[in-house]
Amino acid sequence: MVKHTITLIEGDGIGHEVIRAAKRVLEGMQVSGELEFEWLHAEAGWELFERSGDSIPEATLEAVRASQATLFGAATSPSKKVPGFRGAIRYMRRALDLYANVRPAKHHPVPGSRSGVDLIIVRENTEGLYVEQERSYMNGEIAIADTVITRRASQRIGEYAANFAATRDRKTLHIAHKANVLPVTQGLFLNTAREAADKVAGLTVQDIIIDNCAMQLVTRPERFDVIVTTNLFGDIISDLTAGLVGGLGIAASGNIGEQYAVFESVHGSAPDIAGRGIANPTATVLAAALMLNHIGEFAAAAKLERAVDIALEHGPRTQDLGGKASTEEFVTVILEAYKSA
Ligand code: NAI
Ligand code: MG
Repeated sequence: MVKHTITLIEGDGIGHEVIRAAKRVLEGMQVSGELEFEWLHAEAGWELFERSGDSIPEATLEAVRASQATLFGAATSPSKKVPGFRGAIRYMRRALDLYANVRPAKHHPVPGSRSGVDLIIVRENTEGLYVEQERSYMNGEIAIADTVITRRASQRIGEYAANFAATRDRKTLHIAHKANVLPVTQGLFLNTAREAADKVAGLTVQDIIIDNCAMQLVTRPERFDVIVTTNLFGDIISDLTAGLVGGLGIAASGNIGEQYAVFESVHGSAPDIAGRGIANPTATVLAAALMLNHIGEFAAAAKLERAVDIALEHGPRTQDLGGKASTEEFVTVILEAYKSA
């Protein structure tokens, strides 16, 4: 049995609660003797920034580099400019070159989840509008943000998405873009990603304009298989697809690079419910399942996903899904389900 070194970063708000919950699940799986983990604990986020003046210290990046994978909770970002503050997860994506953000949206047995949905969004994670280069002129009357698209990043995300699709027996890759309005930046992304994806055998590659894609994700989500797109579009449509299958409480993602990987829920720090012990831990537990797949623990990952579905189906569920269970109670339900999954 291989011992896996995993870094845990709680972050802010419900990040603390969902990471502790996911750790309890992973430790429960360890007890069954199939797995062994060694934990590294690292810090990041707004609370740390307020305490220390640094939201993402070098020691945290070192821990991520030293582990096979990292599980991240959520971090608060202020909606105004704060000197010296860096958004922890956005900084890690760029600093550790975690260029592919993989966000599955699959039907789960919860209220409002659309049957037949089983798609994956692959979001370019390092550039686009998220280079965070903004400035204003004329006493704030005009504000400008740069968007950066490179051939290199478009090529590797196109190739990653196509290989991801092909190795999971997916049939269609949609490249979602806005090249009709932004032919220089979005055009470079579209043409480069398509060229890369076309080299992968056995896959149908189609382009689709992002607004039409958003509409069809609502009207006919079951037609989509894998969608690759630029950073901001991917951020937005992956919250949309989370909404199709049961909401942010169950949506997981992975930030994956050549060398490092950080798994997290799609949701944020949820200040409105933080500290009350009622956050749904499912998104982070499913992120842990993505992480197990990434480190080669395929059987444990599949078993954990089955356990989550059994737990979601037979409840009791957390508040966001219409139930009354606390975070801890739902962890117990998952661990119980794991025994029979
Ligand atoms: P949010 O995802 O934190 O919350 C949106 C709504 O969904 C809230 O009503 C919240 O209570 C609910 N919700 C989210 N996760 C839940 C869970 N596990 N269980 C039950 N309910 C849940 O998004 P919001 O409010 O826009 O942002 C709050 C903060 O989080 C902001 O500072 C934002 O910058 C940050 N954020 C961080 C992210 C990350 O760390 N990756 C991603 C998105 C937002
Ligand atoms: Mg988001």
